[in-house]
Amino acid sequence: MTVFTDETRTRAREIIARYPADRSRSALLPLLHLVQAEEGYVSPAGVAFCAEVLGLNKAQVGAVASFYTMYKRRPTGDWLVSVCTNTMCNVLGGQEVYDTLAEHLGVGHDETTGDGKITLEHAECLAACDYGPVMTVNYDFFDGVDPQTAVGVVDELRAGGRPTPSRGARLCTLKEMAVQLAGFADEREGAVADGVPGEPTLRGLRLAQQHGISAPGFDPNTPIRSGKAGDKPAPATPAKAAPTGSTAPDVAAPDRKSPQVRTAETRQPDAKTAVPDAPGTKVPVDGQPPAAGDARAAEAAGAAANKPAGDAKPAGDDTGAQERNLREAESNGGGQDSAHDKGAQK
Ligand code: FES
Repeated sequence: MTVFTDETRTRAREIIARYPADRSRSALLPLLHLVQAEEGYVSPAGVAFCAEVLGLNKAQVGAVASFYTMYKRRPTGDWLVSVCTNTMCNVLGGQEVYDTLAEHLGVGHDETTGDGKITLEHAECLAACDYGPVMTVNYDFFDGVDPQTAVGVVDELRAGGRPTPSRGARLCTLKEMAVQLAGFADEREGAVADGVPGEPTLRGLRLAQQHGISAPGFDPNTPIRSGKAGDKPAPATPAKAAPTGSTAPDVAAPDRKSPQVRTAETRQPDAKTAVPDAPGTKVPVDGQPPAAGDARAAEAAGAAANKPAGDAKPAGDDTGAQERNLREAESNGGGQDSAHDKGAQK
């Protein structure tokens, strides 16, 4: 069983403290990245750690970890090479890039080279269709690749080099990237200013500036709202439009945030901040796996502290739903088409 470091446990507290105390389970996604940063994948120990600190059971954590492809269930290489083979990239040659890399590296999807350096995967749209065909290395983009340039990138990585991505910060290892994905800043000197965004990425921004449109109430440092009554986002109406071609500055929206939101938003502890465990959570201090009784108590406390969402749905699975649906279908005439189905067929 892995004993997670003091640094990981401190960071776990920081992550949990970013969320309202009665919504601590929302911290699960960044916590999974955090344990992946230490081990290189989400191991059974990582699942147990997340369950323990959030008052969830391991099945709930495992269900989330196995749903998202960014959480790896077995050890990965230092460099995760993802090649987009979805429609847009595929018609531009994405599959050819993937096939060439697979043959060159001698691995298939989600497999790692014998030297442990490179894991290859094919991806379903990397959200950069306007740069296709694209591939990423640890989620940094290489735009407009072809088989030859892709092979050049992986060869350089295997030789110890760090090729320069098309956009964004310089490459870091997968474990280092997982720390960033857990919500911690890239601390490398000057890394945030690396590279420049591509022109297609900036197109929407340029149009908004051209037409004098801004996002009312947007504050990049405090994006989390409490969800309480009165904490409503500012109306999504555009700020006063400037004439086309104007270079007038954006007009800031008035501050309509409630005091509770302000309080929640200022909960941004850093590594030096002493943060108590939120209700229903318990970050282990000794690194030892919890006793079964403690885990059950933490799960019960977590369930009590994380009430169902405002839509009145239960937080866990509603095991009676399927039976009710079947009974309802039978009472509506069994195998006959429902009114909805008939309407949809018109
Ligand atoms: S289809 Fe390749 S990035 Fe979208």
